[in-house]
Amino acid sequence: MIALTMSLPSPEAPGAPAPSPSSVADVAAGLREVGYLPGESTALVSYLATKLGKPVLVEGPAGVGKTELAKSLAKYLGRELVRLQCYEGLDEAKALYEWNYRKQLLRIQAEASGTGWEAVQEDIFGEEFLLARPLMTAISSEQPVVLLIDEIDKTDQEFEAMLLEVLSDFQISIPELGRVESRTHPIVLLTSNNSRELTEALEIVRLHTPDLRETVARRLVEVIGMVRALDLKKPPSIAESIDWARALLLLGVEDIDADTFTETMSVIVKHRTDMDVVAERVGLKLGSPADVA
Ligand SMILES: Nc1ncnc2c1ncn2[C@@H]1O[C@H](COP(=O)(O)OP(=O)(O)OP(=O)(O)O)[C@@H](O)[C@H]1O
Ligand SMILES: [Mg+2]
Repeated sequence: MIALTMSLPSPEAPGAPAPSPSSVADVAAGLREVGYLPGESTALVSYLATKLGKPVLVEGPAGVGKTELAKSLAKYLGRELVRLQCYEGLDEAKALYEWNYRKQLLRIQAEASGTGWEAVQEDIFGEEFLLARPLMTAISSEQPVVLLIDEIDKTDQEFEAMLLEVLSDFQISIPELGRVESRTHPIVLLTSNNSRELTEALEIVRLHTPDLRETVARRLVEVIGMVRALDLKKPPSIAESIDWARALLLLGVEDIDADTFTETMSVIVKHRTDMDVVAERVGLKLGSPADVA
């Protein structure tokens, strides 16, 4: 359920974390004390997170305790929890910082008339005019925090890249102000439900068959997901998905109904025994030909 990603480089922590557990058992006991029952790997990964200062990616389906782990870890370590809830369209202004325009405006109005632009600029682009958002809050906090970046799979990849950059050197560049470096080193947990995988498959299929109708492409990825969920000898991968997309394009298919599926499923399922399973289980879900007619 939990993975530990070790790929992000981590700078030396400016300040050592406060209560420092000395073993996996310590962390397990501490989490239990605050009401969280950690599995073996959860305790291990949590321990490593407190020791190594590397971001941890917590993956798993809904309701397995990903968000709760971050909350409990913060409680156990006596740290503040800073949470960045991800959603589609989340941007830097909501994640990093924003300028407090209202306050800047007030300051400008309060300046004596005739104050040169340079002086004004120096005034209004100071730290007191910044509105810190979660990432900035986490890295500029005097006391080390637990930073929860929740449901990262909901953001787009550009945002994710920005995020990973911030997490790799724990500093934020503000054009008007310069670099804000971290005062303390947060424990970072990122959670993901894995819905990203599906988007990626869709993107890849679209890339290879741009002429395939969007609705068909979406449906295709969905059906592939259904097929992959079955216990097959050889589940279809991205390669089969692309082959199938090409086949459907060639056939001028408008929709993937039960008939289309039965006719073309040999492109994505190769094993004889798999074919029987898939025909029965997925064919049924797509509706019998009689339903479609
Ligand atoms: N190991 C655990 N110990 C104690 N409570 C748990 C544990 N795992 C889950 N829970 C409880 O289950 C509920 C769901 O957990 P949580 O919100 O953390 O799920 P999640 O993995 O973040 O799900 P989602 O992907 O939907 O956000 C919470 O009320 C949480 O307290
Ligand atoms: Mg959650």
